Amino acid sequence: MALVGSGSAVPSTRLSNEALSTRVDTSDDWIRSRTGIGARRIAGPHEGLTQLASEAAQACLDQAGWRADQVDLIVLATSSPDDLFGTAPRIQAALGASNAVAFDLTAACSGFLFALITAGQYLAGGTMQRALVIGADQLSRWVDWDDRRTCVLFGDGAGAVAVEACPAEHTGLLAFRMRSDGSRNACLTLAQTHTHTPLLEGVTAQRGGFAPIQMNGQEVYKFAVREVPAVLADLLDTTGISADQLDWLLLHQANQRILDAVADRFAVPHGRVLSNLAHYGNTSAATIPLMLDEAVRDGRVQPGHLLASSGFGAGLSWGGALLRWRGPGGRGC
Ligand code: UT7
Repeated sequence: MALVGSGSAVPSTRLSNEALSTRVDTSDDWIRSRTGIGARRIAGPHEGLTQLASEAAQACLDQAGWRADQVDLIVLATSSPDDLFGTAPRIQAALGASNAVAFDLTAACSGFLFALITAGQYLAGGTMQRALVIGADQLSRWVDWDDRRTCVLFGDGAGAVAVEACPAEHTGLLAFRMRSDGSRNACLTLAQTHTHTPLLEGVTAQRGGFAPIQMNGQEVYKFAVREVPAVLADLLDTTGISADQLDWLLLHQANQRILDAVADRFAVPHGRVLSNLAHYGNTSAATIPLMLDEAVRDGRVQPGHLLASSGFGAGLSWGGALLRWRGPGGRGC
């Protein structure tokens, strides 16, 4: 598959560390020095995930030069859908992508990468030509705003990438890995809660809800700095590509210290590590496409550039991919 377009959208409300510190027992200094985050965007009552993701997807269609009715597949990676039955069909309707099949995929902060790889399999199978892969989350709706260990980390956003079928020798998905370890699931959860609802004698139903995000930050940090370099090293070994051939590291934006640690492991200069944590914090499934779109639009990522990408987070789940950006109107497909 070839990566031919990108788009993104964030809510207009900006919440700075300073402003947050007036509500929670934290400080700009603590948040910046421990995470690199300076601010995050927060969705308002009328800014649902469908709207944010549709805006990102439309910008992506425009950049790729596609009409909505040319799209065969829409995969939405999210852990905070507007509707647990699926939000991707709402995006399909909002775009007018009447020929596309649309479904959600959940793998937390690895979700976008897993969705991109999934879309790649459909395109490689030959039955589909064009796919929109969207990563979008609104975790501001699911954090405990009294828990300073988590509420300072997350923000809302959406990003999308347009991919099209392509001969194998021109693929932009050079290699990938996907991993899960459910035995460590308790390290990071947005788990269902239920309350007893007696129905009849001997029959009690459970009414569902969700508890706010719980995270063992130190365990997740150790997991990330161990597994992300390992999966990227595996990809480089398999492909025979060396780290100095990479134009960019495009990692899940969770913590600047994680980005720096991965870069140092491969001796990649910090200037080649894409980061927008200072502006948006951790937008979960959205971080990778949001970052990619910013770097494509400001000209840092150019056609032909090679990117090493990795997503990691709840599940626990993690993965990596070596990607070559083609951009709109490129040749080779
Ligand atoms: O997207 C999914 C993947 N997620 C991640 O990759 C997150 C990985 N984890 C991390 O990035 C880091 O573990 C955190 C940023 C979450 C936390 O940083 P840390 O350096 O591991 O801090 P800590 O949890 O060890 O806490 C150190 C201290 C504690 O105080 P004491 O016990 O030493 O007195 C915390 O209570 O910092 C305190 N603390 C805070 N202080 C001010 C925790 N959160 C805050 C806060 N403001 N917001």
